[in-house]
Amino acid sequence: MNIRLLDYARAAGCAGKACQADLFAVLKGLPDFVHPDLLVGSSGCDDAGVYRIDKERALVLTVDVMAPVADDPYIFGQIAAANSLSDVYAMGGEPIAALGVLGFPVDEVPADTIRQMLAGAWDKVREAGAVTSGGHTMKDMEIKFGLAVVGMVHPERVVTNAGVQPGDVLVLTKPLGTGLIATGLKQSQVKREPVDKAYRLMRTLNREAARVMLEIGVDAATDVTGFGLLGHTWEMAQASGVDIVIESDRVPVIEGVVELAAAGLVPLGTKNNYAFIQDKADFASGLNEAQRLVLCDAQTSGGLLLALPSAKTDALLSRLRQTGVTGAGVIGYAVRGQGRLRVE
Ligand code: CO
Ligand code: CO
Repeated sequence: MNIRLLDYARAAGCAGKACQADLFAVLKGLPDFVHPDLLVGSSGCDDAGVYRIDKERALVLTVDVMAPVADDPYIFGQIAAANSLSDVYAMGGEPIAALGVLGFPVDEVPADTIRQMLAGAWDKVREAGAVTSGGHTMKDMEIKFGLAVVGMVHPERVVTNAGVQPGDVLVLTKPLGTGLIATGLKQSQVKREPVDKAYRLMRTLNREAARVMLEIGVDAATDVTGFGLLGHTWEMAQASGVDIVIESDRVPVIEGVVELAAAGLVPLGTKNNYAFIQDKADFASGLNEAQRLVLCDAQTSGGLLLALPSAKTDALLSRLRQTGVTGAGVIGYAVRGQGRLRVE
């Protein structure tokens, strides 16, 4: 039996994430946990929680589950795992153990397909130097898969999204466009080349980028996933109490992606992101709708977004290149302000 994994995804990848507005509505009024060892909780919209065990060690805790972004089960497994592991890297941690979280139509999808998916994920976990110790499955109408991940970090070396200083430069380590490409692919409207490029990017662990980030030292970090570049940048600006200027012509984008947006092949998640950011960002009048949508594109397993003093930028970029992170670039800077975005 020939199964097309993407037919089992209503919204591919992180484009299926509940949008920021929905999430705030759900969480509103729910009291935050306060505990002396809970170093990072849910209040600041950070990538993962951090819980201190002792003076030297803290756990990084995260879970991420998504619908397929690829038809090949092994590749999708790798992508889902890289995406889940990324939240640990974004906090400055190293993953140590993971659990699989899986939902699928048990009567329709062959066991072999699911096994290949898990094999892809387990291989990524192995590459990350971590282990898998089991997981949880449930019957579902679509395929959903991801990992709950536990990582380790030194309590004093946790990197959050809240430390951006006025004058900091912002660097993005992977080009944008994976959401638009996955949607184009689902509708068979996209060429092989950008798809292969997107797969390569989504399967790449943010491990090297995170190691360079720790080596050079940054003020703040997050990874760019379902809320898109502007959504995650806005969360960073809010958490840090600065305004952030995005220089859109410097933002790295996968080839052909602006054309997909212009042709209207836009994931719902990306449209939601764009609607959410309207009253939070000032767009330069010269930017057309397609360019704005690309900046809001819901990413799956996107790159790290780093904020650092401008004097360190060259060192960071050259170290990234040396370690094989080739698609990174400066995309903007921070100024004094109250958490707004300016897109030029
Ligand atoms: Co994240
Ligand atoms: Co996440």
